[in-house]
Amino acid sequence: MSKHPVKPLPYANDALKGIGSKTMEIHHDKLYAGYVNKRNEIEESLAKVDRSKANQIYSEMRGLKHEETFAANGQILHEIYFSIMGGDGNPRGDVVDKIKEDFGTFAAWEEDFKASAMCARGWVVLAYDPTDGRLHNFIGDAQNQGGVWGTFPVLNCDTYEHSYFIDYGSDRKAYVEAFMRNVNWDEVNRRLTAALQMQMARK
Ligand SMILES: [Fe+2]
Repeated sequence: MSKHPVKPLPYANDALKGIGSKTMEIHHDKLYAGYVNKRNEIEESLAKVDRSKANQIYSEMRGLKHEETFAANGQILHEIYFSIMGGDGNPRGDVVDKIKEDFGTFAAWEEDFKASAMCARGWVVLAYDPTDGRLHNFIGDAQNQGGVWGTFPVLNCDTYEHSYFIDYGSDRKAYVEAFMRNVNWDEVNRRLTAALQMQMARK
């Protein structure tokens, strides 16, 4: 099985407004890379684990399968997060129309997204759900908690303290405002287009 690669930041680590290079260096080079490397390590261990000893209370198989979801989601969510920053923060394109359709107004969505970021312990994710054809703001308290199966993340914000403590101390609100100023709405539109191409039946 091929290994998951650590993807480089699509911009310099000092390119963001209000989110400093030290934060990005630690966040990308150490924390994100750590998820990718551990996912690879877990997959290697799973290839040779003793499946006959699988047990729901404790077993090596259970430990590996559980942490596989933590590492995989840590990798995936961070790759999306890094990819949808580096922009000018000016909302535009089809995603703005879709947000208005699903949340009433852009301001109503933004208020809900920011409030979701304030009450999440890990992530807030704007995701497209092909089962109802709508965008939703979901929260997660850990990498592998809160995700809704089958939805496609369009825009997300990491709300773990490592995302902002160096720049803002405990002032998460200031970080969320800074995050919004860095959103790359062209990439968010690209992700919405990909989401809308999901051909899941709406039943
Ligand atoms: Fe993070």
